[in-house]
Amino acid sequence: MAPQLAWIGLGNMGRGMCKNLVEKGQLDKPLIIYNRTKKRSEDLSNSLPSGKSTVASTIEEAVSGADIIFTCVGDDAAITETIDAALNGNTKGKLFVDCSTIHPETSEELAKKVTGAGAEFVACPVFGAPAMADAGQLVCVLAGPKDSVEKVKPYTKGVMGRANVDFSGQRVRQALLLKVIGNTFVLNMVEALSEGHTLAEKSGLGSDNLHALIETMFPGPYTAYSTRMMSGDYHKREEPLFAVDLARKDARHAMALAKAAGTRLKDVEVADAHLEQVKKHKGEAGDIAAIYGAVRQEAGLKFEN
Ligand SMILES: NC(=O)c1ccc[n+]([C@@H]2O[C@H](COP(=O)([O-])OP(=O)(O)OC[C@H]3O[C@@H](n4cnc5c(N)ncnc54)[C@H](OP(=O)(O)O)[C@@H]3O)[C@@H](O)[C@H]2O)c1
Repeated sequence: MAPQLAWIGLGNMGRGMCKNLVEKGQLDKPLIIYNRTKKRSEDLSNSLPSGKSTVASTIEEAVSGADIIFTCVGDDAAITETIDAALNGNTKGKLFVDCSTIHPETSEELAKKVTGAGAEFVACPVFGAPAMADAGQLVCVLAGPKDSVEKVKPYTKGVMGRANVDFSGQRVRQALLLKVIGNTFVLNMVEALSEGHTLAEKSGLGSDNLHALIETMFPGPYTAYSTRMMSGDYHKREEPLFAVDLARKDARHAMALAKAAGTRLKDVEVADAHLEQVKKHKGEAGDIAAIYGAVRQEAGLKFEN
């Protein structure tokens, strides 16, 4: 019999990951879903095939009926609250799998609490934008005790993801260290594209001409972000795909890790300063791709292209 799964956190990432679990996870019971804002659970449940999901009204309810509980929420405070609520009930023998991007030491603290309650804990942060989550094309980084990680693998590569980075047997902090350092590449990529497109416009090369090179030389995320900049998606969308607050959380964690390790991430500092401008201009609806708007403003152009 397949384990009963529950999913907590139905943001941009969680919704796509649930869709793939339901479609390809070989579940023999409906996926239990929970989200702080219940409407999101109901909307997702309605969009999935009938009988494939059930909505839980509380974290405790979601956890009590499940063997494996996946979590994917915004930040360190959100996951700490979520796990604390989960541990209010009897969690002995259950397995928690956290896909949130958090500070490595937060993940260690969660692992300690969860194992202290007689349950298992695996860190499973993921790489890839929401479109990749929808398409089941994420890269899943797995760390924690080997036996626990083995129980999670049936749901990562081939279901929610296209590949695993397998740190089984390593401490959970390792997965988060990789995730946070890896995300500095995303920040730097968006910063570089923003500066390049701004210079292309101001110098007379033109954004289209620059984009042609990006498509040829740097297919994948570079091209996707370049397209979001050129189309104006970075300022038009009401719901961000990668929220400014989450991007700044990632930058903060990276800069704190660097400081503690005796090094410095000057390029992340630059990107974060632009994100601060994005937050001022767009509020919580700001998206990481809107770094382009902030760079444009510095160059005397309008934020919106
Ligand atoms: N977006 C990306 O490109 C991307 C890529 C890889 C990894 N990640 C990481 O994956 C995680 C989720 O990202 P996302 O883009 O899906 O975020 P999102 O769309 O902003 O959704 C955030 C989710 O967390 C929940 N949440 C926030 N604060 C909470 C709290 N205090 N208690 C309970 N639930 C809370 C939200 O519930 P409500 O619906 O009630 O607000 C929502 O379900 C983050 O750690 C992010 O850094 C994001």
